Amino acid sequence: MNMENVPLDFLGELRRTHTCGELRAADEGARVTLMGWVHRRRDLGGVFFIHLRDREGVTQLVFRADGDVETHAKAEMLGPEYVVAVEGVVEKRSAETVNATIPTGEVEVVAEKLYILNESRTPPFPMEDTVEVKEDARLKYRYVDLRRPRMQRNIMLRSKISLAVRQVLYGQGFLEIETPFMTRSTPEGARDFLVPSRVNRGSFYALPQSPQIFKQLLMVSGFEKYFQIVRCFRDEDLRADRQPEFTQIDLEMSFPQQEQIFEVIEPLVKEACKEAGFAIPAPFPRLTYDEAMESYGIDKPDLRIPAFRRLEGEFSGLGLKFAPVAIHVPKVGALSRKERDELKAYGQERGLRVYDDLKKMEPGVAAAAREATGAAEEDLLIVAGWAGEPSGQRPEHTFLQACGQLRLFAAQKYNDRHKLLDARDFRFLWVLNFPMFEWDEEEKRWAAAHHPFTSVLDQDIEKLTSDPAGCRAKSYDLVLNGVELGSGSIRIHRRDVQSKVFSALGFSEDEAKRRFGFLLEALEYGAPPHGGIALGLDRLVMILCGETSIRDVIPFPKTAKGTDLMCEAPSTVPERSLRELGIRLVE
Ligand code: AMO
Repeated sequence: MNMENVPLDFLGELRRTHTCGELRAADEGARVTLMGWVHRRRDLGGVFFIHLRDREGVTQLVFRADGDVETHAKAEMLGPEYVVAVEGVVEKRSAETVNATIPTGEVEVVAEKLYILNESRTPPFPMEDTVEVKEDARLKYRYVDLRRPRMQRNIMLRSKISLAVRQVLYGQGFLEIETPFMTRSTPEGARDFLVPSRVNRGSFYALPQSPQIFKQLLMVSGFEKYFQIVRCFRDEDLRADRQPEFTQIDLEMSFPQQEQIFEVIEPLVKEACKEAGFAIPAPFPRLTYDEAMESYGIDKPDLRIPAFRRLEGEFSGLGLKFAPVAIHVPKVGALSRKERDELKAYGQERGLRVYDDLKKMEPGVAAAAREATGAAEEDLLIVAGWAGEPSGQRPEHTFLQACGQLRLFAAQKYNDRHKLLDARDFRFLWVLNFPMFEWDEEEKRWAAAHHPFTSVLDQDIEKLTSDPAGCRAKSYDLVLNGVELGSGSIRIHRRDVQSKVFSALGFSEDEAKRRFGFLLEALEYGAPPHGGIALGLDRLVMILCGETSIRDVIPFPKTAKGTDLMCEAPSTVPERSLRELGIRLVE
């Protein structure tokens, strides 16, 4: 469709000589051919200034009134986002017209010939990053949204980070090996997306929640070091850091010490950060899961905010179940009545008794809180205790978790005062030795905290059946600023141990065989000790781009409801397709 009867030109033999981000003062006098999109047009007394944009940047084109008549007439027809090629000569701008905000700002290209390669409807929203656009509109016209400088930057950085990751892993002797997308259910704990089989009616493939089993089988097959930057699929409730399809940097090694896995990941993450322009220190600090709970009340602590402290001493007068916790957020200053009530209410909803005013507290408690935290006068200092009945399988954890939530709530709420949560302050952390099992309240049984192929600590093996709650795993998470970036473990490589873990999880021998028989069998054919990890690429790129949603670093993401607004997926299918698959829909 030719919208305004603009005469369109053929690309013909034209070749681009430079990108729009490339020309500098040293190029003065060069004859160049640029191609790109019309970003902005200004008319000044018969002279047209056009900002021509491509993915590398913006260059100013000038169409002088005394130039070629036909070219000038064509330039007048250009609207936003028209696609053009231009031939011209690079000129240095005069000192007062230099544009210091763009790298090409010292020059402009005096246009001699203009080719209109395509026109454009008026875009649904402006290309400027500064304009706030509703996400629905952005996702519906994603191809236009992706042209905006911020999205171009994000997607290009993502590509660079992927390359850096590949280079580190190839450099360390890893092989990039593909695993199937059409497979059977994997055990990462979410729901599977299913694909019906036409040839085998009534049977379904499952899309992999991760390549977990396949990468373990590749170790049995003797490949020793595997990696993949791979799409995973999980049918779970979505949040800002969760998509139904997302990408993992997935790897596995044979004969590893946990330490050797860290020695792969730390340089990898360092290189990724370097691509984004950040130098980060390594090795990363480490905490056991128990230590993380005891100091932060969460298994993915944000180290930019100080740890909380358990108070030591005699507080029986308070009538609390456990030793109380002092939460300390520096430089918050005095809180208003309303703010105090808000904090209190937040804590109370989670079962805490919140002492927010030290002046009104028993002097012993106030002094203990000050001493434990070293809080200054202008810092926020609150004490939290648990007054209710213990609940859950690990009641003390329930209390510590509530304190952890209150700590985060307070720190996030007053960030404009203390500025601790600086998006460019990267605090990586390893959290080690998670519990092996988690109590599943719905199913009333122990479930694998990571996945059922995770080894238990050698010293806890005896507890597998006698004390599941006390079993710790050879597992580790990589955490960055309160976000779980990755998870991994040393796996079970012995058939007898794997059977024991399945039985601790309440799988009958038959059920274990039915679901994972091929893996159990593989363990009988010389499986080496092995272990690995997977990092969420989307989350890593999100943080390095300074974004708060992974949707902003995925070219074509789903909405919070799991839909694609642009191509309108998921969609219904013709009755005939269902019939072929042997599927009938019920109300
Ligand atoms: P896990 O399930 O912890 O481990 O996943 C690893 C990492 O993948 C990212 N991630 C997600 N990112 C975006 N959207 C999601 N829905 C989503 N789910 C997970 C997170 C997470 O830390 N097979 C094991 C790894 C192993 O043991 O080697 C696994 O998949 O950043």
